[in-house]
Amino acid sequence: MSYVPSKVLSNEQVYGNYYILVVRTLRKLRKTPLPPQFSMVWVPGVDLIPLSYAYYENGLAKFFYKVVGEGTKSLSLRKPGDVIAISEPIGQSFIEIEKPVFLVGGSGIAPVLYYTKYLESFSGIWGVKHGELAEALITRFPKLKVLAVASEDCTFGFCGKLTDYLDKLNLNSNELVLVSGPTEMVKRVCSWLKGRSVKSGLVIAETLVKCGLGACGSCVIGGVLLCRDGPVIGCEAF
Ligand SMILES: Cc1cc2nc3c(=O)[nH]c(=O)nc-3n(C[C@H](O)[C@H](O)[C@H](O)COP(=O)(O)OP(=O)(O)OC[C@H]3O[C@@H](n4cnc5c(N)ncnc54)[C@H](O)[C@@H]3O)c2cc1C
Ligand code: FES
Repeated sequence: MSYVPSKVLSNEQVYGNYYILVVRTLRKLRKTPLPPQFSMVWVPGVDLIPLSYAYYENGLAKFFYKVVGEGTKSLSLRKPGDVIAISEPIGQSFIEIEKPVFLVGGSGIAPVLYYTKYLESFSGIWGVKHGELAEALITRFPKLKVLAVASEDCTFGFCGKLTDYLDKLNLNSNELVLVSGPTEMVKRVCSWLKGRSVKSGLVIAETLVKCGLGACGSCVIGGVLLCRDGPVIGCEAF
């Protein structure tokens, strides 16, 4: 896989363990990434981390990420001027859609941020533990305002979990639902969707990605290779 050296422009702590990394690629990517594609972000000497594009335009890329382990921790310590590298975009784009309904948990919002650049109209719910995260991210990506927020600490939007509010959604049979977030939440939403007549229930999935080339098989999920055919796959896989 080919990697493009990229200079860190900023790496801002948005709230708690959540950061936005902004990089400028030092040469052009061969292909412009489109939602919900991702890249392997190489932190020299530490790790390769799959991250979804939150934004891309003319060599300026943004990634929204949560620090969960050693790789993301060391990424969070990169400073403006440091050089990292990002791979060419991985996976299939999925943008020929109209008015999707997003049901998103936590850092699963990352690919939705990039969708806001391409979609005229969308709706849905974003579930967060802490309302402050939603507040901080909406300030930076104002189109997110369209989503209802459910915060577990009851400080922003609805009080409670996203799954507490599913039955309040008025879905019809033309609706395309895109689910993204922690596996447990995805499973619950997909199982709820089974009883609904929607056009389709799809997941922007995450799993273990190693080669990113469709060669090692580590990313198989629901019978498909996430890095080659995903990251959008059917709810049936969950
Ligand atoms: C296609 C794809 C796109 C992704 N896009 C994003 C993105 O845009 N933003 C983002 O924040 N993350 C994203 N992720 C998840 C991200 O790649 C992982 O969080 C990261 O690789 C963890 O690396 P680490 O070395 O910090 O932690 P590790 O040491 O690998 O893991 C530390 C611990 O955290 C757990 N863990 C791993 N991933 C997650 C997670 N996502 N949430 C909670 N716990 C986790 C592990 O099971 C382990 O217990 C994406 C993953 C994939 C496959
Ligand atoms: S990560 Fe190796 S096949 Fe997908």
